[in-house]
Amino acid sequence: METVRLARHGEIAIATIDNPPVNALGQALRSDLARAVADAGSDPGIAAIVIAAAGRAFIAGADFSEFGKPPVAPFLPDLLDAIEASPKPGVAAIQGVALGGGLEVALSCHGRVASSAAMLGLPEVKLGLIPGAGGTQRLPRLIGAAKAFPMMLSGEPVTAGRALELGLVDEVTGGDVVAAAVALARTLVTRGAPVRQRDATVRLTSADRETFEALAADATKKSGDMPNAMALIEAVRAAVTLPFAEGLAVERALFTKLLADPRSKALRHVFFAEREIARVPGIGSEVKPRPIAKAAVIGAGTMGGGIAMCFANAGIPVTLIETQKAQIDNGMNRIAAIYEMSVARGSLTPALRDQRLALITPAVGIAAAAKADIVIEAAFEEMGVKQQIFSALDAIVKPGAILASNTSYLDIPTIAAANTRPADVLGMHFFSPANVMKLLEIVRPAGVADDVVATAVALGRRLGKVPVVVGNGFGFVGNRMLEQRTRAAERLLIAGALPHEVDGALTGFGFKMGPFAMSDLAGNDIGWRTRKSRGKTAAVADAICECGWFGQKTGRGYYLYPDGARSGERDPEVEALIARISAEQGVTRRNFTAEDILARLLDPMVNEGARILEEGIAARPGDIDIIWLNGYN
Ligand code: 3HC
Repeated sequence: METVRLARHGEIAIATIDNPPVNALGQALRSDLARAVADAGSDPGIAAIVIAAAGRAFIAGADFSEFGKPPVAPFLPDLLDAIEASPKPGVAAIQGVALGGGLEVALSCHGRVASSAAMLGLPEVKLGLIPGAGGTQRLPRLIGAAKAFPMMLSGEPVTAGRALELGLVDEVTGGDVVAAAVALARTLVTRGAPVRQRDATVRLTSADRETFEALAADATKKSGDMPNAMALIEAVRAAVTLPFAEGLAVERALFTKLLADPRSKALRHVFFAEREIARVPGIGSEVKPRPIAKAAVIGAGTMGGGIAMCFANAGIPVTLIETQKAQIDNGMNRIAAIYEMSVARGSLTPALRDQRLALITPAVGIAAAAKADIVIEAAFEEMGVKQQIFSALDAIVKPGAILASNTSYLDIPTIAAANTRPADVLGMHFFSPANVMKLLEIVRPAGVADDVVATAVALGRRLGKVPVVVGNGFGFVGNRMLEQRTRAAERLLIAGALPHEVDGALTGFGFKMGPFAMSDLAGNDIGWRTRKSRGKTAAVADAICECGWFGQKTGRGYYLYPDGARSGERDPEVEALIARISAEQGVTRRNFTAEDILARLLDPMVNEGARILEEGIAARPGDIDIIWLNGYN
């Protein structure tokens, strides 16, 4: 057997799963485990079996890479039935994580011991699924439906300590978990016939059922549009009302249906894409990142200040640089105010606020960047300004320092050309608000050194970001696609839609915000300035800016924000202005359904994504998805 080692401890068999990296229950492991259980069952010298695991996980669950392919025997539910039906007790020795099918293996055992650092959970809902190997039937029988249902609905794993409180495990040990499991196995042997979860109905009382139904009603109100949440309710209801075998059949049918749901497919795609982005084409583990102990950020505006906070939040000292005292004072005040809000909300302690503020050193003049291992320029979005800064930095920073620009659109090699060390120059494009948004586009121009890219990626992770390496090209990936959407949204207004209809279609689709609410939040003047610098126009957007309606900061933009409101109200003046522009352009306005609007907004983005891939600006389709999930919600 390749994935399971079978050993004996007197009359106890120990089956140790060893299927790196995380002991996922692929076909080989299922087959080996089935054999180990059968061998132990038929060996007259064996009284019980302990299922243990090597490595950092007990079992991470079913093997995702098999999902969507024709299933190959032995099937997980059958394997678990065999473990549970064995005349000899089985005990799970849980170290690391027991997730999904991994916890279901443990639930099919007759006893469970967890190491104190173990985490146990059924995270299937996070993948658009429900547990599919008896979890929805066995967990309620073990801990009651009232406790099992919320655990499966959140998908959040619990600690070993909490698992003990819930009755999910029999014992928690800080010592040798296998030795403790062997001891429990011996105890179970002395007790005689093992207790099977399928027969255990003691917790399924009418009070438990009532509590579960109340929780289910609440979940229906909150998540009625989530097919997996509704399926979970149905499966748990089957557990509390039907015999075990029938409940299991209900669960299986629901699980199989969800597996084919495009939402679940998408979530599984994201799981792998999130891990794939760590592999940067052409940069292997032999490329070592440069050490980063000190940073400097040039420009204390909204972006620069947010980036400086990222460093401070990660415990890295940072010098924040401006050209004038008044500007740096403003920048520091803004940062202090943001931290203050966190303290007021209770998400930051005053001590931590002080510690973070102390890590940010305000300075006037670029010479203050001299000691930095990395300098991030977040100055005005104009090539001349950027080149001036990169030229000045050349004479100031130490050899080997990394020079990054936070530009959203501009050509990195042109910025780097102002400098004698282009191999140390790349883009690090943060998203606003930089201290909050997870996305970090790392722009890799031709000629940048591999270890500079590796350093930016490693630093991005240290800053708590999701770093995605992209190629150089106007707007990189995210903003280049966004521009297509912005243009389509403007065209929709002229053709007959209104801002709230366009925004509503996108939020209905799942985005947190539509393009006009987003522009009002970011400031309509930003796009206006960019258009002007590129000699471009947008009739509605320009007219709104000409009225001085820059968005939330001026109290009105595409919407009205009376008394500093954060969400906008429809503005009859804006709607009249749009109608006037349609008339001026000779357009007869017409109605659009949400579906029409979505197609007009999203199809051009999909096409642009395809072009981005074709040009190699993004390495893989999944990289684009990770960018959109983390940068644009
Ligand atoms: N199937 C296949 N591969 C998996 C996997 C799984 N269930 N879980 C993790 N992996 C792979 C990852 O893709 C990654 O591969 P890579 O190195 O080639 O990129 C490798 O294992 C290591 O994973 P991580 O990088 O995520 O390692 P961490 O140590 O950070 O995290 C973990 C480990 C907590 C186990 C995390 O991987 C995780 O949460 N995995 C998913 C757990 C899960 O959702 N299980 C439920 C599965 S569905 C199920 O069981 C259905 C059942 O009810 C029938």
